[in-house]
Amino acid sequence: MISPDGSNAGPAILILGAPGAGKGTQAKRIAEVLQIPAISTGAIFRQNMKDRTELGQKAQSYMDAGEFVPDSVTNPMVKARLSAPDVAGGFLLDGYPRTIDQAFYLRDALAATGRELDLVLEIAVELDEVVQRLLKRAEIEGRADDTEPVIRRRLEVYKEQTEPMVTYYADQDKLVQVDGIGTVDEVWERIRQVLTEYGLLEK
Ligand code: AP5
Repeated sequence: MISPDGSNAGPAILILGAPGAGKGTQAKRIAEVLQIPAISTGAIFRQNMKDRTELGQKAQSYMDAGEFVPDSVTNPMVKARLSAPDVAGGFLLDGYPRTIDQAFYLRDALAATGRELDLVLEIAVELDEVVQRLLKRAEIEGRADDTEPVIRRRLEVYKEQTEPMVTYYADQDKLVQVDGIGTVDEVWERIRQVLTEYGLLEK
């Protein structure tokens, strides 16, 4: 994207989708090929929980229950991350925003620096598939929020709070839906095509 001073500020991309849709998996690849940082709010919270920081303590009970961490914690954390020097050349947000209020907050925070989101990628996967993926991950990684009741709650919260936000981006013509069914490589190929169409990747 071009900032008001005419300099190329690099792509500002959001990847969204239900829990287990493959956001984190594909975010790594996008970040690598575009050479921009992938910023995952979930990963930042987990790291803070591991390091037993105050932020981690604030997030823990919400994450363990599959609820969203309050905006009073999440929004300033993201704003601070977006002011770091490494985002000057672009960035990929994974898992933020997740509500309309967060989307408005992000819009204002970016506007203050002359930026806006260029592209919103939604990875679409049906419910049964994401539950299976997360239960499988539970066996391998043992993530605290990958138990069946918490997975169900995360999916409910996604439906109630994040899906309405998807419409907000669709109305602005920023949204591109990508089929998330298939192998990681197949999904990546679809994303790669979108990035190419948007002029973010060479053919
Ligand atoms: P977050 O860490 O963002 O978790 P999530 O949204 O529930 O998503 P996941 O990380 O579970 O899944 P993913 O879509 O990234 O898929 P992945 O690539 O890992 O958030 C966790 C919590 O933090 C939230 O519940 C909330 O409490 C808090 N939080 C975060 N952001 C917040 C915000 N903005 N506001 C408030 N609170 C917030 O893949 C999943 C599994 O499937 C992996 O094992 C992977 O290997 C596998 N897989 C991936 N792709 C494929 C494929 N194509 N085929 C088969 N398996 C696949």
